[in-house]
Amino acid sequence: MINIPKGTKDVLPGEVYRWHHVENVAREVAEAYAFREIRTPVFEHTELFSRGVGDTTDIVNKEMYTFLDKGNRSVTLRPEGTAGVARAFIGNGLSGGAMPFKAYYLISAFRYERPQAGRLREFHQFGAELYGAAGPYADAEIISLADRFLRNLGLKKVRLQINSIGCKSCRAEYNRALKEYFSPRLGEMCEDCNARFEKNPMRMIDCKNENCKKITEGAPRMLDYLCSDCAAHFDAVKSLLKEADIPFEINPSIVRGLDYYSRTVFEFASEAAGAQGTVLGGGRYDSLLEQMGEKPVPAVGFAAGIERLLMVMEAEQAQIKAPCGVDFYFAGMDGASRDRAFMLAEKLRGEGASCEVDLMDRSLKAQFKYADKIGARFVVVIGESELKEGAAEVKEMKTSSSARVKFDELAQYYEKRRNQDV
Ligand code: HAM
Repeated sequence: MINIPKGTKDVLPGEVYRWHHVENVAREVAEAYAFREIRTPVFEHTELFSRGVGDTTDIVNKEMYTFLDKGNRSVTLRPEGTAGVARAFIGNGLSGGAMPFKAYYLISAFRYERPQAGRLREFHQFGAELYGAAGPYADAEIISLADRFLRNLGLKKVRLQINSIGCKSCRAEYNRALKEYFSPRLGEMCEDCNARFEKNPMRMIDCKNENCKKITEGAPRMLDYLCSDCAAHFDAVKSLLKEADIPFEINPSIVRGLDYYSRTVFEFASEAAGAQGTVLGGGRYDSLLEQMGEKPVPAVGFAAGIERLLMVMEAEQAQIKAPCGVDFYFAGMDGASRDRAFMLAEKLRGEGASCEVDLMDRSLKAQFKYADKIGARFVVVIGESELKEGAAEVKEMKTSSSARVKFDELAQYYEKRRNQDV
């Protein structure tokens, strides 16, 4: 028996309705904000991520699924969606079209991480990206979309935390202050932090090493180094969120794990997700396109992890309506009635009803047992006398009530009963 690869999961037919629910809510909310879906390839040239996501991040340094294809090109399974959307935006000349450009995606993503609850090697994201708008309304719109998505899923205990990590110019001064602070403490810090110290000291704030975390507690905070433009932008975002009644807290230690962010960064987290508390993260990334060698275009976006959302929804007992399953199970008894059952099921499927017929040559009793197992609403019994009469015995499983329905009136019967709750 070949096992499933570590850090991946099957979504089975019995649970897929939960995924459909999250995906439907995602689409509905994104469309309400006039975002349209974008689909980009699962793999891209490796360079897109090393340049886009940033070569000081854990994602690029340790977690990418990178391989040489048969043409000896280095390609990588996407570890996230933002870089691919940026590449598609540039490659398709979309900056020349209607702006702002707004796109959402539902994708699988791949990171070679140590698997644990809520952390997988193949996981799924719902994300949204907005290009072309530099002002605080765009940040507020993206955060509002994220917030509405989570509320519409019925989540009540997910908290929004925001921070500003400034722009290139104020970050330079902040990095100097961080270096001054960390320099005498480097000996006590992990190898990764020593590397980050040279390349991107702000990334040290994000370190998961317990010792580093303690040292980081006393480090200077970016919020104290914001230039006047960045501070005004952050103030405006905060007041828009207040006006929109979106509760938030300020958390100066949110720096995000990807290099492309500037100004507003945010995360929605829940205690119900355990150690992997963050269900959704995002922020402004005005310099990503420039980093990719293009004209700068202001941008802001987020992505949510669907597996983590489903975990939190379960913990919060958020209701997901299970599908009603099969409408009609057609039970035949002998050759002739089985033939008729097959043809009647075909006809009703054409009317939009979900129908099953016996494919296993079972006894009537076994057919009823199976119909019960699959949650069929009605069992349509066809035997010798029904064939003669041209009418079937239709039994409603939940109420055990029966009705005699003419074969050619089954479609009407379905129409009449389909919206009636049992
Ligand atoms: P991220 O914070 O790396 O951001 O990922 C977003 C979400 O994806 C996380 O909050 C988490 O729910 C989920 N996630 C990440 N890694 C895993 C994993 N190994 N297993 C399960 N779930 C995971 C981004 O990906 C950015 N592209 C978000 C963004 C879009 N920023 C601007 N636009």
